[in-house]
Amino acid sequence: MLGELVALGLERHEARWLTQEFADPSGADHAALLAAAQRRRAGEPLQYVIGHWPFRALDLDVDPRVLIPRPETEELVAVALGELVDGPGAPLILDLGCGSGALGLSVLDELRSRGVVATLVAVDESRDALDVARANARKHALHTVSFVTSSWFDALDHSLRGRFDLIVANPPYVGALEMQDLDPVLGHEPRGALVSPDADGVVGFADLGIIVREARGWLRPGGSLVVEHGAAQREALVALARARGYVRVRDLEDLSGRPRMFVARQPS
Ligand SMILES: C[S@@+](CC[C@H](N)C(=O)[O-])C[C@H]1O[C@@H](n2cnc3c(N)ncnc32)[C@H](O)[C@@H]1O
Repeated sequence: MLGELVALGLERHEARWLTQEFADPSGADHAALLAAAQRRRAGEPLQYVIGHWPFRALDLDVDPRVLIPRPETEELVAVALGELVDGPGAPLILDLGCGSGALGLSVLDELRSRGVVATLVAVDESRDALDVARANARKHALHTVSFVTSSWFDALDHSLRGRFDLIVANPPYVGALEMQDLDPVLGHEPRGALVSPDADGVVGFADLGIIVREARGWLRPGGSLVVEHGAAQREALVALARARGYVRVRDLEDLSGRPRMFVARQPS
C-alpha cells in the first residue's frame, strides 16, 4: 500500500500518514485512500485531504471552507491565556474571524481544563466557516459558545459593548500583490481568510485597522486585545493603538523571531 502511494509520486512520510489515516483491516477503504492520494498529488494541502488537524490540545476538523490553523497561531493562544491570568473567574471572550474555531475554542478548552468556565462569542463573515467552527465546538463538547455571522463587530448585540474581557483575532493581513509571491498551496485556502486591502499606507492593513479601532468600544475596562499580524505591520499597529488610547501596548515575536503578536489593553 505504502509503495503504491510512493509510486504515485507522494513523499514517503506523507504516504505513511495517509495509509495510517485510511487504515482499514477489511481493505474496504482502499479506494478512499487512493482518492486521497490523488488529491494530495494534485497539490491539495494534506490537512484538507485528511480532514482534521491538531491545534494545541484540540483535533480540529478542517476543510477548504476554513484556513488551516498555523503553528504561530498556537503561540497566540498562550499569549491570550496569559492576559486572562489576573482576570475574572468566568471571562467573556470574543474570537473575531474564528475560521475553524482554532483560537477561541482552544482558549475555552484550556480554561476549562483549569476549571474556568468561559463564554465565547465566535464571529466570522463566512457562514461556511461558522459551520466548521460549530462542528468543532460540538466535537470537543464546548457548549458555552455562540456563533455570529458578522463583518467584525457589525452584527454583534450592542448589549455586549464594553463587556469583553478578551478579544482575540487572526484576521486576513496579506496584501493582494504579496499573495502572488507566496506558496501556491495557499491558493487552496479561502482567499477571504488571507487577503486584506491596503489601508493607512500599509499593505494588507484594512482589517487589522478596523479591529484595533473598533475593539475599544467592546472591551471592558482592563480587557485585552490580542491580534496576529504580519511582520511588516508591527509599527503601524502599535502607533494606531497608542493613538487610540490603549495602554500596555506590546508586540511580541513568534518562535521564528518575527513580530507577529500584538497585545494591548483597554484603560482600567
Ligand atoms: C486568517 S483566517 C483565521 C481563522 C482562524 N481564526 C485561525 O486562526 O485559524 C481569517 C478569518 O477571518 C474571516 N474574515 C475575513 N473577513 C472578515 C470580516 N470582515 N468579518 C469577519 N470575519 C472575517 C475569514 O472568513 C477567516 O475565517
